[in-house]
Amino acid sequence: MQYDNENDAILKARLPRHIAIIMDGNGRWARRHRLHRIEGHRAGAAAAKEIVRVCGKLGIQVLTLYAFSIENWGRPKAEVNALMMLLEEYIQKEAQELVAHNVQFRAIGRLQGLPASVQERLYETIGLTQGNNGLILNLALNYGGRSEIVDAVQAMIPEIQRGSLKVEELDEETFDRFLYTAGLPDPDLLIRTSGEMRLSNFLLWQSAYAELWITPILWPDFTPEHLMEAIAAYQKRERRFGRTSGE
Ligand code: IPE
Ligand code: IPE
Ligand code: MG
Repeated sequence: MQYDNENDAILKARLPRHIAIIMDGNGRWARRHRLHRIEGHRAGAAAAKEIVRVCGKLGIQVLTLYAFSIENWGRPKAEVNALMMLLEEYIQKEAQELVAHNVQFRAIGRLQGLPASVQERLYETIGLTQGNNGLILNLALNYGGRSEIVDAVQAMIPEIQRGSLKVEELDEETFDRFLYTAGLPDPDLLIRTSGEMRLSNFLLWQSAYAELWITPILWPDFTPEHLMEAIAAYQKRERRFGRTSGE
């Protein structure tokens, strides 16, 4: 897609700060191509690489990708194992690319519940890229929105007991500090591929006012052009946050 300078300025001015994506449809993509489900996940990883690259180029601040939910442990063991291996491979292969493109890599979720080898790769790449100040890439792994809220409460209680946080002082902003996404802006644009009209336990607290964009495109088929389409649709929306139009 080509933009002249004026359009480019408009595009930049109203760019979502944080884009969150539910990368769904790898299994259906595989079935459609008469391939094994894991091949769908492999194709999904390739699609993710492209989206990370284009978000960096566009100057998006934060990209959160839902890669593995707490509920996904309920899949057949062989698929879970294959997903974990693919994840490890992706992080290892992409590490240098992320460094080179000034991407700050992070992960959100119950990371301690992931296989040790995945955790090692994760922390290695997080360490390698922590000094970068470009796109923040957040990978949601063993992530659940409800468990994130429970974890936040668990982290908060000791502070209340110690007296460093007073119950009367607890407000939404303070609560935010205990979430995995502490310090990050809330998602402005939440994309879900492959047509399902649900959140599947993704960023429940943070998405309170996210603009939703759901496409029937299966994740492995999702290209930077589709992302531009979603951003363009986002830019035409009026975000009212409960107020009246034009207020
Ligand atoms: C999304 O694709 C990837 C993960 C949840 C890990 P799916 O594997 O859910 O694909 P469908 O929904 O079966 O098509
Ligand atoms: C959501 O997709 C989780 C990820 C994309 C990682 P699912 O395929 O697991 O969601 P449901 O089961 O259809 O709600
Ligand atoms: Mg799915």
